[in-house]
Amino acid sequence: MQISLSEEEQSSIVELLSELAGRFKSTEDPAFLAQAPVFAHELPRRVRLTLNEFRLYEPTSAVCRIAGYPIRDEEIGPTPSHWKNRQKHCVPLKEEMLLVLLSSLLGDPIAWATQQDGAVVHDIAPIKAHENEQLGSGSAEELTWHTEDAFHPFRGDYIVMMCLRNADRVPTTFAPIDASGLPPECVSLLFEPHYTIRPDESHLLKNRVDPVNGQVPVEAAHGRIEEMDSRPEKIALFMGSPESPYCRIDPYFMDPPELPAAREALDTLIRHIDSLLEDMVLEAGEFCFIDNFKAVHGRRPFKARFDGTDRWLQRAFVVEDLGASDGERDGRVITTVFGE
Ligand SMILES: [Fe+2]
Repeated sequence: MQISLSEEEQSSIVELLSELAGRFKSTEDPAFLAQAPVFAHELPRRVRLTLNEFRLYEPTSAVCRIAGYPIRDEEIGPTPSHWKNRQKHCVPLKEEMLLVLLSSLLGDPIAWATQQDGAVVHDIAPIKAHENEQLGSGSAEELTWHTEDAFHPFRGDYIVMMCLRNADRVPTTFAPIDASGLPPECVSLLFEPHYTIRPDESHLLKNRVDPVNGQVPVEAAHGRIEEMDSRPEKIALFMGSPESPYCRIDPYFMDPPELPAAREALDTLIRHIDSLLEDMVLEAGEFCFIDNFKAVHGRRPFKARFDGTDRWLQRAFVVEDLGASDGERDGRVITTVFGE
């Protein structure tokens, strides 16, 4: 699914955002986040219809792209050298607001106490110290494909990314999960709990800077993440319907399963996804909505300059059922987990 905003749609969005930017100073403002689904009613009808269709019918393509939001490169400021700088400047506010409004058409944006210090909107830009890491902020190494937060029971149903700058045309990688090409015995094994997925690096204590919200019990959340890292539970990778299963997978953070047949099924799935992986170059002003239960994504390696002109995306995670994490959230921020 893909649309490009018309001039009329662009102007109506710009007008809405100007009004909201006069009322709220940050997308992290709980009042803005609470009211965003209502403001989203004022987005152009075609945009709302497109995302409604994407949410309702879960197309096998598992991605929706909306291009054409006008970004003035000189107005959004330099690509940040670290996501921790965002909290102080909150630039570009209007673009961030649009990211949250569009996300609200699919569900409710959430945040993690253990990631980017509890922010709902994340900056994805290369950080010099992470150059060779398996992180969104890495650059020189391929970010291997994965479903986002695959280890976590409250992972987002959707990942929403907005491209603010990508002059080098660095590709995001993407593949829908299509089980129809897999042998039935392989699919059966993937529905069984033979597998473990450890937390990815972005949640580990070493990548923490300072908690944004001092009230968030960050220590406890990190404690639970460390536990998930050292003693991961055995889980199934497939769930839902055998014809069109939902999937969670992050091979970089998985150990080979004990059962040889389960190992073979995992290898078959990995090869299958490898064969479907495609490059997807996001352009400035483009939004990309990925079904995190039906697709994997990653990023090709690139040579970052770290001079304020590198690729810059912003990202939000959206859940369809905020109530599922009741009691394990502080506002929008997921704090602790006690198993599925
Ligand atoms: Fe990711």
